[in-house]
Amino acid sequence: MIRVEGLVKDYPMAGDTVRALHEVTFEIPTGSLAAIMGQSGSGKTTLLNLLAGLDGPTAGRYWLNGRDVSAFGVVEWSRERNRTIGFVFQAFNLLPSMSALGNVELPLVYRRVPPRQRRERAQAALEAMGLAHRAHHRPTELSGGQQQRVAIARALVGDPPLLLADEPTGNLDAETGDEILNLLAALNRQGRTIVIVTHSAEVAARCQLVLRMRDGRMLPAAAGGGA
Ligand SMILES: Nc1ncnc2c1ncn2[C@@H]1O[C@H](COP(=O)(O)OP(=O)(O)OP(=O)(O)O)[C@@H](O)[C@H]1O
Ligand SMILES: [Mg+2]
Repeated sequence: MIRVEGLVKDYPMAGDTVRALHEVTFEIPTGSLAAIMGQSGSGKTTLLNLLAGLDGPTAGRYWLNGRDVSAFGVVEWSRERNRTIGFVFQAFNLLPSMSALGNVELPLVYRRVPPRQRRERAQAALEAMGLAHRAHHRPTELSGGQQQRVAIARALVGDPPLLLADEPTGNLDAETGDEILNLLAALNRQGRTIVIVTHSAEVAARCQLVLRMRDGRMLPAAAGGGA
């Protein structure tokens, strides 16, 4: 599903540069439930943003589903993301002025799915997250766990084969975090490839593949505890 080779990311900083990724090389096979771990500042979010095409690498190559996407520009990436990738942010990033349903419909608006079909699919995605009864609530009228489930419904409404999640349980209490993790594991069993950035050893223990980062470098791969 994902293969990167020698990925480098430099951020320009006041005439200098910060190297956030140093020639990172790894693979995540299709169907994996994978964790990316590492201390704060080790480059996890930087890496996930590159994998989603939200930012471009300074150097290195990236194959997504066997296709070389290293040289993709903004337009190609937005099309690719729309088809292939669902993204869940640590801070949910829901639009505050829209209902849960409106937020979940958004990716389908960009895909130009007709309104009625859009609504039906968004309803179904919310229902799958156990939130049918909260469809007309705005994000501020929902709990943290509910907001994250709306964000996951939004990431999944277009049925992408790959889900990238940046600390999806980071802002939640242990119990709610567990529920979200159970949801992600179930989605993985349905065949989706899922990559979770996490600080939690418990989360990583449930992943088949654990990638560990330190100071912008990927440490040698190790097997996790299994799902
Ligand atoms: N936009 C930016 N401009 C300059 N430096 C940046 C930028 N974004 C990140 N960095 C630097 O790159 C390094 C990696 O940051 P990144 O956000 O990827 O870490 P992280 O592993 O996600 O950390 P955390 O666990 O705290 O979220 C850090 O040293 C950070 O200061
Ligand atoms: Mg981060």
